Amino acid sequence: ELGLYPRATAPDDPRLAQSVWGIDFRNPVGMAAGFDKDARVFAPLLATGFGFVEVGTLTPRAQKGNPTPRIFRSAADNAIINRLGFNNEGQDAALPRLAGRRNGVVGVNIGAGKDSEDRIGDYASGIARMSPVADYLTINISSPNTPGLRDLQAPEALAALLARVQEARAKAERCAPLLVKLAPDIADADLPEIVRVILANGVDGIVVSNTTLSRDGLKDRSFAAETGGLSGWPLFARATRMLARVFTFTEGRLPLIGVGGIDSGDAAVAKIKAGASLHQLYTGLVFQGPR
Ligand code: FNR
Repeated sequence: ELGLYPRATAPDDPRLAQSVWGIDFRNPVGMAAGFDKDARVFAPLLATGFGFVEVGTLTPRAQKGNPTPRIFRSAADNAIINRLGFNNEGQDAALPRLAGRRNGVVGVNIGAGKDSEDRIGDYASGIARMSPVADYLTINISSPNTPGLRDLQAPEALAALLARVQEARAKAERCAPLLVKLAPDIADADLPEIVRVILANGVDGIVVSNTTLSRDGLKDRSFAAETGGLSGWPLFARATRMLARVFTFTEGRLPLIGVGGIDSGDAAVAKIKAGASLHQLYTGLVFQGPR
């Protein structure tokens, strides 16, 4: 925000450019949701070299999130556990900042309020409110840190949610592409039906994946005991496998964003091979910095 950040010096290799959902991406590597929760630093992130930025998660009203400490690092595991719980200033606060933006691709990630009595209504209103300022919209139903939120991934709930969201989109003055962000902890047997519901309801893309509740293979036991969503290296295999399965079930009909444990060109190529058109990362940046 203060302008103290490294700028990308070389232009992107033109071979990295592509058009997805009719949007021109200058490279496929985006900043994952949760870093720029309040849409304050998308322009600096783009200037650092990211091909796009997903801001949010933004909820209808401001909320504080969970008590601190709520972010934990393990250098031994190259991993982070967070239980932030959608701390953000709310959609109305982010709106003018997004409305004033110029170049670069910015997606907006939408969530439901912690104490909401109508979570589906929160998504519908969020889509309506943020559509005019978003290049694309992501429905986040996969955060482990808002109790019960992931229940919206169940096929019946998901179908009801998407129907309401599509109604809201139809009324919006601008209809930005709609993405759904999934959790990597969906049971193998449940995934085909979830993907079928997504395909049947006019969704434009899928983000695979959010953080995991799994603690498999962690070295640091006290770190592993923290509650929250795990990201970084230990998420890579799980998220990439799920990405490949989603690609198979969608038969390549929807562009997919591959997220989870990317911290190198090789990791990014593995996501492409699994079916990703675009990438996002967060934890890799924390441990390795912008270069
Ligand atoms: C996240 N992530 C996240 N995702 C989301 O949809 N909304 C959010 O608000 C957040 N918040 C958030 C905070 C912190 C501190 C972290 C580390 C992560 C999840 C993120 O977008 C991504 O899906 C995972 O972190 C997996 O990617 P990496 O970190 O392994 O590259």
